[in-house]
Amino acid sequence: MCGIVGYIGNQDAKEILLKGLDKLEYRGYDSAGIAVINGGQVHIFKEKGRIADLRAIVDTDLATNTGIGHTRWATHGVPSKLNAHPHQSTSGRFTLVHNGVIENYDLLKREYLQEVSFKSETDTEVIVQLIELFVNDGLSTDEAFRKTLKLLKGSYAIALLDTESGETIYVAKNKSPLLVGLGDGFNVVASDAMAMLQVTNQYVELMDKEIVIVTKDEVTIENLDGEVISRAPYTAELDASDIEKGTYPYYMLKEIDEQPLVLRRIIQTYQDHQGKLVIDDEIIDAVKAADRLYIIAAGTSYHAGLLGKQFIESMAKVPVEVHIASEFGYNMPLLSERPLFIFISQSGETADSRSVLVRVKEMGYKTLTITNVPGSTLSREADFTLLLHAGPEIAVASTKAYTAQMAVLAILGQVAAKKSGLDSDFDLVHELGIVANAMEVLCDSKEEFEKIAREYLLTTRNAFFIGRGIDYYVGQEGALKLKEISYIQAEGFAGGELKHGTIALIEEGTPIIALATQEHVNLSIRGNVKEVVARGANPCIISRKGLDMKEDRFVIPEVHELLTPLISVVPLQLLAYYAALQRGCDVDKPRNLAKSVTVE
Ligand code: M6R
Repeated sequence: MCGIVGYIGNQDAKEILLKGLDKLEYRGYDSAGIAVINGGQVHIFKEKGRIADLRAIVDTDLATNTGIGHTRWATHGVPSKLNAHPHQSTSGRFTLVHNGVIENYDLLKREYLQEVSFKSETDTEVIVQLIELFVNDGLSTDEAFRKTLKLLKGSYAIALLDTESGETIYVAKNKSPLLVGLGDGFNVVASDAMAMLQVTNQYVELMDKEIVIVTKDEVTIENLDGEVISRAPYTAELDASDIEKGTYPYYMLKEIDEQPLVLRRIIQTYQDHQGKLVIDDEIIDAVKAADRLYIIAAGTSYHAGLLGKQFIESMAKVPVEVHIASEFGYNMPLLSERPLFIFISQSGETADSRSVLVRVKEMGYKTLTITNVPGSTLSREADFTLLLHAGPEIAVASTKAYTAQMAVLAILGQVAAKKSGLDSDFDLVHELGIVANAMEVLCDSKEEFEKIAREYLLTTRNAFFIGRGIDYYVGQEGALKLKEISYIQAEGFAGGELKHGTIALIEEGTPIIALATQEHVNLSIRGNVKEVVARGANPCIISRKGLDMKEDRFVIPEVHELLTPLISVVPLQLLAYYAALQRGCDVDKPRNLAKSVTVE
């Protein structure tokens, strides 16, 4: 949620900031702004809408080497030019951008800022006004910044400009991600290394409650008490082509197509020289020591968790519970005696999951994060991490991370099973190889899915995805994909549950996408299809080779039955993609959403 950039050096700051914001637009895209310093004066440009709208109003002739920028996902205050960042203090001396939520902003307003007239509805404006207040009381800028940060409750990543020290960007973070990038004669600030890959791949990670004083030649990290901290930079292992669309019209399509490649990369990365699947002993020991695994996740990652439970329970024979992160904290079940918590998160930044992580760590339990982003908050804070190796996922709709999450969970199940001496003739490396090939076949069938989408989803108000067993879980993911990007009201149901209420919604022509990939429930799901057809539904059965029947609309290749979710989701991803495209929606940036959900 929200993306931040900053640049200080010798080049044209405006262009670097705008390009950086383009790369961060996935984090929020309802409004954007930049503030740049020219001749000791701050110039602010902000606009409701996308970065392209902002670009259109920036004064291209303005010479400037220092600036900060922001792309917003609204939390406090509607998306508008007024609420867009950067925000300024009353005198105009201080200007800042902020990502996060200041929980006590109202209290701070009442306690310290009663005299101030606020221009926006944001929580952010409180921060910049507090800094000015404390400077007016006689503190230096960094003392005032520090004092302000100590008062804030909540999450923040901040970049601050002071017109009286125009050669400095003040930076701080707590819970929200922020990095400082290093260059020769310049330095940068970014929520994500991707944003500034255009100028550097050398980054310094920042920890919570640190302040950084950034000039063009120096970066000084301090804690809130002013003690200097030294930290070596790291190289961001990102290939510029990973973050470009290339010839694809949308990132989502590129990311769907990358799935076979990602799967092969995962198989390779988790194999040793003898071709045996391996995972760090300490992780497997933690799984073996646990009497129950608790998977905590949100959205698509939660759906991957539902399938992970099937993999782990059937291979490693350890009971698994799967919980929605935002619910778990408020409704914690009775825990087993020796739980291990597994957090699944593409971004590694999801605030709902993080709040559970913090809580269970306080309770003394071991934690494992499965994420796509090394060094992300959930990865840093958990005891162990397993990486997805999916490459940057930029489309808001998660696709390749979902299949990567399932693959890593299957590998975890298999390695834990082997270490527990459980016999299995299931050669997972071989089976995943078959899955990767099958994914390719499906990705090559795009024209067919384009047709099916046109036939079933072009004008419908709603759609249902039904299945039994693991098909039901994949159906839930299919429904999420469809509603998220095409705005069709879609639900995933267990086939047998429809008759207990939901069947009342079936009308003449209602699309029902039914998955029939599991032998033991093949006949029962087909029975459920007959029930809805009898009430006028328009069925689209997607079955698996070997189980197919003449009425089926599409037949996916045969892979190991347990692993079918890794391929049966591909048609659903493509149907959602084409439905959104055909209905004129912005596939990569659906309304009201953002990629990385860093607010609770
Ligand atoms: O980064 P995470 O995996 O923790 O994100 C969780 C959800 O916000 C995410 O999966 C969301 O549901 C996707 N937009 C779905 O496509």
